[in-house]
Amino acid sequence: MSNVKFLSGENVPLEMHKVRMVQKVNLLPVEDRLSSMTEAGYNTFLLRNRDVFMDMLTDSGVNAMSQEQYAAMMQADDSYAGSETYYRLEKVLQDIFGMKYFLPAHQGRACENIVAQTLVKPGTVAIMNYHFTTTKAHITINGGSVEEILYDEGFKIKSDAPFKGDIDIDKLKESIKRNGRENVAFVRIEAGTNLIGGQPVSMANMREVSKICRAEGIKLVYDASLLGDNLYFIKKRDPQYKESKIIDITREIASLMDVIYFSARKLGSARGGGILVSDEKLFLEMRELVPLYEGFLTYGGMSVREMEALAVGLRETMDMDVISQTPIIVEALCNELIKNGVPVVTPPGGLGCHVDAMEFCSHIPQVEYPAGALAAAIFIASGVRCMERGTMSEQRNEDGSERLAEMELARIAVPRRVFTLSQVKYTADRISWLYQHRKMIGGLKFVEEPKVLRFFFGRLEPLSNWPQELAKQFRKDFGESL
Ligand code: F0G
Repeated sequence: MSNVKFLSGENVPLEMHKVRMVQKVNLLPVEDRLSSMTEAGYNTFLLRNRDVFMDMLTDSGVNAMSQEQYAAMMQADDSYAGSETYYRLEKVLQDIFGMKYFLPAHQGRACENIVAQTLVKPGTVAIMNYHFTTTKAHITINGGSVEEILYDEGFKIKSDAPFKGDIDIDKLKESIKRNGRENVAFVRIEAGTNLIGGQPVSMANMREVSKICRAEGIKLVYDASLLGDNLYFIKKRDPQYKESKIIDITREIASLMDVIYFSARKLGSARGGGILVSDEKLFLEMRELVPLYEGFLTYGGMSVREMEALAVGLRETMDMDVISQTPIIVEALCNELIKNGVPVVTPPGGLGCHVDAMEFCSHIPQVEYPAGALAAAIFIASGVRCMERGTMSEQRNEDGSERLAEMELARIAVPRRVFTLSQVKYTADRISWLYQHRKMIGGLKFVEEPKVLRFFFGRLEPLSNWPQELAKQFRKDFGESL
């Protein structure tokens, strides 16, 4: 990353790109934000984007692309079979990761479907640093279960551990012993561990996990969706890699893995997904599923234009200037909030800023979804759309009781190269205002609750008229201001 010092000594996240195309956004008055939130059933997924000021729901499929990516889209080869686009993308992936086989899929969860159908047998267990929602759903639907073995530090909201996504090696050994190696479907490492606050995994940890898996004959699967962020943190936080090239770090990671898959909605700032394997037998097994669920092997459900954009985006991911842009903005947003006393996950990770709803809304019991309520309140206060990552994002236990999440987070995602520093400051300002009035936020209850991945389509209701009171307070404090 370019090293630019400011005269003031202030640590300013400096954009290493310029904006050449824009989208107008609307900031509705607080009363209209309240109506939109009510119409959306207090679920930020159900808001219409025209009512949103800053869409910080996710960093998935909403990243700004480079002019080189757009230019590459023009050369896409539309053939159903044998498309040149496929071979170009395959070559880039082979160059970067050094793995032999590439299977395309329409997005990350489609890769998870193929990986789970191939490797998970009923009664087996997938051991991992931490699950992602769709990952777990695909494993359980195939009759497997998930065991999460982060170090305890990974669950601490406030920490200065540089690699909170690391797998606890003792827990790994114990789990393999207890389950029996033949009952372990695979071990999975998720780069930039999403649900614990975009926290990276260290190279030393990956090396150790890989060594154990190889000795035990267990497949090691790497979810590289958030690899860009993880690479940035390895270079920034591990002195051993300070001088390393990003591509060399990537190749070293890849050499430790048996299967790599990714969502290209995150990695490579395009839309799609892919699986990489070196083992021919595994490749052939997975290949059978691609035409069944995705499309012919040379496009796998992806638009060929996106595949061209992805090929360029992946090469651009090897540039520290490019991959630094999200983490430095996340850090700026976190620091601004910390300054105002707002509890956030530290150290700042990739992906976004994660506000600790357990503390922010400590008066709301977990069964009333404090993180969901906070996400709704943030929208009412600011027009910023973020996402609940807590109990609402969990699936109920078999007996219908709530599975309480380890963490209750409101995730304010930072799409790559999309928002400016003034917009980030606005977000921090409104959340800091909300923090001053945090006791006004109340709980939520489901009025429509889907069985699987309920956070997507579930509709909720506030347990009192707290949203109306909050909107009134906003008017009182901000007067005419939007
Ligand atoms: N793995 C990780 C670590 C993810 O963060 C995601 C998606 C997926 C797999 C699935 O990929 O969306 O292309 O099907 N995360 C998005 C998010 C949805 O908002 O964090 P996908």
